[in-house]
Amino acid sequence: MIEAVEYKENGSLLLGVQFHPEIEEENPLFDWLVSSTKKYLTLVNRENPIKYYENYKIVPYKSKYPKCQRDSNLEENTAIAWKKLQNFLKENGYNAEIESAYRPKGLQEEIYNQIKSDEGTDYAEVYVAKLGYSEHELGLAIDVCLQKNELWLCGFEEELSPFYTFLEEHCSNFGFIIRYPKGKEQITKYNYEPWHIRYVGSIEIAKEIMAKHVTLEEYLCEKY
Ligand code: DAL
Ligand code: ZN
Repeated sequence: MIEAVEYKENGSLLLGVQFHPEIEEENPLFDWLVSSTKKYLTLVNRENPIKYYENYKIVPYKSKYPKCQRDSNLEENTAIAWKKLQNFLKENGYNAEIESAYRPKGLQEEIYNQIKSDEGTDYAEVYVAKLGYSEHELGLAIDVCLQKNELWLCGFEEELSPFYTFLEEHCSNFGFIIRYPKGKEQITKYNYEPWHIRYVGSIEIAKEIMAKHVTLEEYLCEKY
């Protein structure tokens, strides 16, 4: 069961979510169905900038990953799905956390510029979206990292391979897809990102996308 909780931080009252895995939902399927509205299928890519920021309610989430500070929050239903996925990963021996999720105004551009200055323009172009063109700006995307023996593992760390395979196999059971799959770079126009999961609002749709090995672009083209 998920409950909304209020908590205080620096004197302000914030709304968060708390996960109680020990309490079964009365009708979990219904919960998923009501959240599977089209807003979770919004296409944000190089050609399609974000149109309706206001449709997405962002809720606080505190990542334990120390470098994740300004970008740990999530869209409200994405937060619920993430807590379930995180709990499932934990049960399977993976201490997963958010490396980066909701990027508030301007942060996407800061990240792009930082990566560009660290790694060069060519690298930044294939890994980071421009301001107004990232799912992270809606709180629907999560870059996942892993804590292992007090170490934090992110990105293309060799040791993460089994975890990414596991994540790819199971994320759809929680409504997430691997948004930039290997071999689909021509369609997504971004490099393979095994860490970037995108909430699509429905377990059924996520399962279909992952089972068919299609991208969100291909799925939407086929359906609409
Ligand atoms: N890494 C993806 C493309 C983003 O910046 O949204
Ligand atoms: Zn990402």
